[in-house]
Amino acid sequence: MTTTFTGRQAFITGASSGIGKALVSAFLATGYQVDGIDCAPSAFMAETRYRHHQADVTEFTALDAIFEQAEYGSENNLLINCAGTREICPVSELSLSLWERVFAVNVTASFIAGRAFCQQLVRHGVPGNVINIASVSGMMGEPNRTAYVASKHAVLGLTKQLAIEFGAQEIRVNAIAPGVIRTPLTEPYYHDPNQLNKIKRGQFIPQLGEPEDVAEAALYLSSPKARFITGSTLVMDGGWTIGKDL
Ligand SMILES: NC(=O)c1ccc[n+]([C@@H]2O[C@H](COP(=O)([O-])OP(=O)(O)OC[C@H]3O[C@@H](n4cnc5c(N)ncnc54)[C@H](O)[C@@H]3O)[C@@H](O)[C@H]2O)c1
Repeated sequence: MTTTFTGRQAFITGASSGIGKALVSAFLATGYQVDGIDCAPSAFMAETRYRHHQADVTEFTALDAIFEQAEYGSENNLLINCAGTREICPVSELSLSLWERVFAVNVTASFIAGRAFCQQLVRHGVPGNVINIASVSGMMGEPNRTAYVASKHAVLGLTKQLAIEFGAQEIRVNAIAPGVIRTPLTEPYYHDPNQLNKIKRGQFIPQLGEPEDVAEAALYLSSPKARFITGSTLVMDGGWTIGKDL
């Protein structure tokens, strides 16, 4: 039986590493009760306001059940779909099973979690926010990442659809499209001078993206300060997508 408590509840998928870990840290620091969902264990297991669900987000029935059985806050509830995966291979070597895996993690799990979360908020009559962690790969193409690029484009479509369907129930749905952010996913780039140079030349400011930058954007989007923003994509990429250096 689910209950509503006085407070703020966040669900974060992909909570154990990189951007998701920074999101957990930021929302715990802001006073949220945080439920993290990740197939790996979390560094926050001992925190009193943190509950870990060690699960694969592509186990869709189990994912649905987490939201069915959860508690919801009366003030502000939040879902951040951050779990993600990608392939690196030319399209001619991209198998159907890898394509399906990338879509299952990046798109279908975000749909299942988003639908379940929004339905529960409507049932409880409480407001909330969904933030989907997309990517600049949802706005432009990139060599050797066909499934990833297509899946992140789909995430932006899903964001708009949920925003349309649940707006009247005071649920805002937005996406964040980060450029290159230093996490275990991208760590190898920072040890390869050519890759690092490519990143620096692809941006128009010298700062490199950190997981905390994404967390700051999520704090803003989920706050009342962003009350008029829904269905939108906040691009944070050091200028990666605004132009090319000739
Ligand atoms: N790092 C970047 O440069 C960057 C840029 C744009 C977008 N993103 C997106 O940000 C999100 C997080 O990326 P990151 O860089 O922090 O990666 P990461 O690899 O550091 O973390 C991803 C987390 O998701 C979890 N995860 C992956 N598949 C899962 C599954 N099936 N079930 C449960 N948990 C699963 C992993 O265990 C891990 O804890 C992804 O959606 C990624 O596409 C990252």
